[in-house]
Amino acid sequence: MHEPESHPSPDGVNRRSLLAGVGGLLTAGGLLAPAVAAADPVARPEHDPRVEALLAKMTLAEKLGQLQLVGDEATARTALANGQLGGVFSVVGAAKLNALQRIAVEQTRLRIPLIFGLDVIHGYTTNFPIPLAQGASFDPAVAATDATVSAKEARRSGIHWTYAPMMDVTHEPRWGRIAEGYGEDPYLATKFAVAKVRGYQGDDYSSPDRLAACAKHFVAYGGAEGGRDYNTVDVSLQRLHNLYLPPFKASVEAGVATVMASFNTISGVPAHGNGYVLHDVLKGTYGFRGFVVSDYTGIEELILHGLAGDGADAAAAALPAGVDMEMVSTNYVRFGQRLLAERRITRDQLDDAVRRILLVKVRLGLFERPYVDESGEVKAPSPAALAASRQAAARCMVLLKNDGPVLPLAKTVGAVAVVGPLGAATYDLNGTWSGLGTGASTTPPVTVVDGIKAAAPGARVTYTPGCTVDGPDTSGFAAARDAARAADVTVVVVGETAAMSGEAAARSTIDLPGVQQGLVAAIKETGKPFVVVLVNGRPLTIPYLHDNAPAILEAWAPGVQGGHAVADVLFGAVNPGGKLPVSFPRAVGQIPIYYNHENTGRPADPANKYTSKYLDLESGPLYEFGHGLSYTTFSVENLRLSDTRLPARGGRIQVSARVTNTGGRAGDEVVQLYVRDPVATIVQPVRRLRGFQRVTLEAGASTTVSFTLTPEDVGFYDNSARFRVEPGKIEVYVGTSSAATLSASFTVV
Ligand code: NOJ
Repeated sequence: MHEPESHPSPDGVNRRSLLAGVGGLLTAGGLLAPAVAAADPVARPEHDPRVEALLAKMTLAEKLGQLQLVGDEATARTALANGQLGGVFSVVGAAKLNALQRIAVEQTRLRIPLIFGLDVIHGYTTNFPIPLAQGASFDPAVAATDATVSAKEARRSGIHWTYAPMMDVTHEPRWGRIAEGYGEDPYLATKFAVAKVRGYQGDDYSSPDRLAACAKHFVAYGGAEGGRDYNTVDVSLQRLHNLYLPPFKASVEAGVATVMASFNTISGVPAHGNGYVLHDVLKGTYGFRGFVVSDYTGIEELILHGLAGDGADAAAAALPAGVDMEMVSTNYVRFGQRLLAERRITRDQLDDAVRRILLVKVRLGLFERPYVDESGEVKAPSPAALAASRQAAARCMVLLKNDGPVLPLAKTVGAVAVVGPLGAATYDLNGTWSGLGTGASTTPPVTVVDGIKAAAPGARVTYTPGCTVDGPDTSGFAAARDAARAADVTVVVVGETAAMSGEAAARSTIDLPGVQQGLVAAIKETGKPFVVVLVNGRPLTIPYLHDNAPAILEAWAPGVQGGHAVADVLFGAVNPGGKLPVSFPRAVGQIPIYYNHENTGRPADPANKYTSKYLDLESGPLYEFGHGLSYTTFSVENLRLSDTRLPARGGRIQVSARVTNTGGRAGDEVVQLYVRDPVATIVQPVRRLRGFQRVTLEAGASTTVSFTLTPEDVGFYDNSARFRVEPGKIEVYVGTSSAATLSASFTVV
């Protein structure tokens, strides 16, 4: 491995970054984690002769220029004219991108190509369901497919780098960005994050069908107080490492090319200036050798956070902390030279950042192939991509309730009334972060009403909105009631618009917006059969629906084939098998409510007042993590462990159970494995997901599902960020949701 000429000064800014971590995270116990105490253990980018040759030729201004990322064409052109630009994001279109690249490659002194980024979050041209929905599939192959299709479409259209996957674990359904991640569980989020990184990057992201991925947002962004976007996060070291960091650690192990810093503070130190998380943990302990990009003006925001007095201060905090590339704000290029002269940043820190960025450009093959073939630009979804999106969307849907059962509907049904403001919605079905790629904003999703018409061609299908998503007007209820009376069954499609979740889309209540609940009540009054389809980007508080609607299908924001996918499930062409990746609270006042909570000394007990509960609300969620029904039924039995003892070093235990389709039609079940350590030096969650498998079984068929548990599955990080595997009993639960009751135990020795 290449040895850089000098290591960052043990005295100057680096120590400052370490102290930021210590001050922010370790005051309580006063313990120093090894990662913090050790001498600079940072992983260096690999040696590449081309990068070294360039570095040797680069002026200071050119080096600083490589650290600059801008978000529009005009600014890009100005920066290029000054020879100070590393990359551009949010500019779309092969010809436009080639034109910018031509300036970089033909008119700048060293001809270093630009890197082109974009938020390709759940589709470029072809929109897939939102990531939260994908989490509900409990099938990481869904995420891998989305990433593979999106990477191909985007790369062929000139994009090199996606700002995905987002892997922020969160307990906050009010937070709009819950839509962009995989919910409340770090294990589930880890599996999906890794599948997506691999799907985008493949084995070699220089391929014309692949993108460099970006693990974001580093870190603990999902802990935003009150669910308000960008808000403060105060987190213990054990929770940081056990809850928020695992998907990032796994993504680094999977070779993710880049990481994006998050907007929040972490225990008083904003991520963009947090040397503990970026320098010590990410680049040190995890050995991350790619580059860290700031979030949009994230470095500049250190001023408003109150960490930096001015832009120079902000740059002096961010670069040593480990942010390599600055998005939109320009403090590195403006103040870098001065900061070097003042020795507030070191040449080694600057060179390290430049090396990391150039190396990703090398890996992308940009020096050999800076341009994209404009004739290959993807401008419309291919039939194969549409089919993949439709299949993914149906696989993500969760049947929350099905009394009767009302579902599936018969294809021979005579008349269907589609009611509700989202029944004819188009782009709202795409959810947040959609429409950015070429062709995406001119490909409206299939509406639910059109999907139903296609699925039941013999039926008379009507559509009556009844109300808007968030307005107060109930004057359309009467027409909706009439439509329901005239039909055999009514499908009520309610929920949220796309703009109600995603970035800067926090809600203070998570009820159905507007008068939509009233619309459901109006349909119920008719006494006719009905089902509710939910389109939304977050959990909603829907006790009314649970008590009053015969069936509820959670469709999330299902993407460009949404209407077809909803109809596939409603009519039983697809038997729903998704499970909730996040708890559904009964009321907003219960938040945070999550399955993997710690026990109190007084767990909720309805018979005892002095226990942990609300006076005015039943305990527990409305729908628990892992919940989801099917049109058939399953049993899980015969839980077996291969051993009663798990050696803490190198041990393995096989856990198996028999799952049987006990109903009358083929279907999917997600067998879930949870562990609990009932006595530990850091109290452990009442359950932790450590395995899941989605299986398809014919009616009456059985299969044995097995999982392997290793010490890693039962260990945890303590408040010194040390991973511990402690001796003692471990309980195992296997079943079809986080409420699984089938259990066994073994002992860690
Ligand atoms: C801000 C968002 O937080 C981030 O996720 C996104 O990638 C950037 N903007 C770029 O659009």
